Amino acid sequence: MKKILGSSRAAIATTLFCLLLLWFHTMSLSMSWISRINNIIAATSSPTYTFNNNQETRVQIRTVASQQNHQLLPRGVLPMSYQFSCNRTYLRYDLCTIDGSTVLDPTTSTFFTMDPTSPVHVEKIRPYPRKYEDYIMGQIKELNLVSGPSSPQCTIRHESPAIVFSAGGYTGNLFHAFNDGLIPLFITASSFYPDGDFIIVVSEFHDWWQSKYAEILKVLSKHPIVALEKDNATHCFPSATLGLIAHGFMTIDPTLIPTSKTLMHFRDLLEKAYTQNPILPSPPLDPKPERRPRLVLTCRGNDVSSRRILNQDEVIQVMKEIGFDVIVFQPNRYTSLSEAYAMLNSSHVMVGVHGAALTHALFLRPRSVFMQVVPIGTEWAADAFYGRIAKGLNVNYLEYKIRVEESSLMEKYGKDNVLLKDPSAVQKKGWPTEIMDIYLKQQNVKLDLVRFRKSLKSAYLMAKKFMHKER
Ligand SMILES: *[C@@H]1O[C@H](CO)[C@@H](O)[C@H](O)[C@H]1NC(C)=O
Ligand SMILES: *[C@@H]1O[C@H](CO)[C@@H](O)[C@H](O)[C@H]1NC(C)=O
Ligand SMILES: *[C@@H]1O[C@H](CO)[C@@H](O)[C@H](O)[C@H]1NC(C)=O
Repeated sequence: MKKILGSSRAAIATTLFCLLLLWFHTMSLSMSWISRINNIIAATSSPTYTFNNNQETRVQIRTVASQQNHQLLPRGVLPMSYQFSCNRTYLRYDLCTIDGSTVLDPTTSTFFTMDPTSPVHVEKIRPYPRKYEDYIMGQIKELNLVSGPSSPQCTIRHESPAIVFSAGGYTGNLFHAFNDGLIPLFITASSFYPDGDFIIVVSEFHDWWQSKYAEILKVLSKHPIVALEKDNATHCFPSATLGLIAHGFMTIDPTLIPTSKTLMHFRDLLEKAYTQNPILPSPPLDPKPERRPRLVLTCRGNDVSSRRILNQDEVIQVMKEIGFDVIVFQPNRYTSLSEAYAMLNSSHVMVGVHGAALTHALFLRPRSVFMQVVPIGTEWAADAFYGRIAKGLNVNYLEYKIRVEESSLMEKYGKDNVLLKDPSAVQKKGWPTEIMDIYLKQQNVKLDLVRFRKSLKSAYLMAKKFMHKER
């Protein structure tokens, strides 16, 4: 059995790092707020920005009236034309498009467009697709779009359009990095720039984000990333899209994309990313037909004390008895996705308790097997977050819903408590944090070995069938 384990020292370091990030994040937000306001005022009235009438890159501009201003205008007045428009009608995101050349001033997070005939017009956007969640949206840096008679000079001129989004919010969590970032980026790019020729412009950029997702980002766009926080030169783009399109949890709806992309296409992109940058060769597969299927047991990190399998050693023993080769995979913040990809792409089964680590199911091959252990009270999220990956990738999906007796909450609350007896009733009014903390942060599982063995046997049969087809 091969173990990929982070040491507890790494776990403490991770926790400290997170706290530091959070603090830094809060500080930088409150500080940049004031300077931003000042800068916006300065920028829109400053005489130092010269007119730039004979800009070569200036293309035929399709002017679209901003929806908001439409509503503000008195009857009978034709809407002003600006070179950008923001559509705020979507549930999950706002989207602003700039249909002509634009100058980005990263020091004020502002995209300028020039229109000598119209007065100054300002719009704002938080380019993160969780619009329905006030708390996290409040932490996302706001970007500005300013249309007016003047605009800053262009220092760096790009020939390709920009897609602009935030890598802040919950992006530090693997599920969110894909669900709120990379998958929406794929959807947005496929919708607007199907030829793949666009520049990634990121606000709330972090080095760890770029390095963790480097291979994927490189396959998405061949151009270097422009990071607002790391730049103070102005950048010109022939056009730009601010915000990311999201279709729902771990979902790509082909009917909403002109090029009909699916989650399977996203996985193709992952394959391309990790083929081009092989850190490790994929573990060799035993070519004998009687070989044992490989099962990856995904565990939560040492730094989390919930949703762990309390009888993990016995569970592993059962897995081996049934006939699996077992790999215990305990990912942490520093886990190389390239190595994780190579491992899961050459495995037949993945098993794990509901949690962000199951995002790695994106790396499973179609027709392999994914079994999610579902603690009490996480039924909805289990299906919505990770069940969807299986559906989207045509992976055989099994859910092992634990019984009250298998939950550590039983000892604490008693098996007749409504929390355990009827979690859906408790969650009817939504997901209050106090309640969800009980299910997500206080609960561990002790699997019933007799019942779990039955589910593992089904997984085994599916895995053997998959291996047979694989040959
Ligand atoms: C915003 O998007 C919706 C849905 O695609 C579309 O019907 C609507 O016309 C758009 N509004 C503007 C102002 O572009
Ligand atoms: C940009 O910032 C760097 C340091 O971060 C500084 O050395 C440089 O002079 C700045 N450039 C401009 C144009 O302000
Ligand atoms: C993933 O698995 C497929 C099928 O076994 C293989 O052809 C491909 O090379 C693997 N990709 C990587 C990056 O290891």
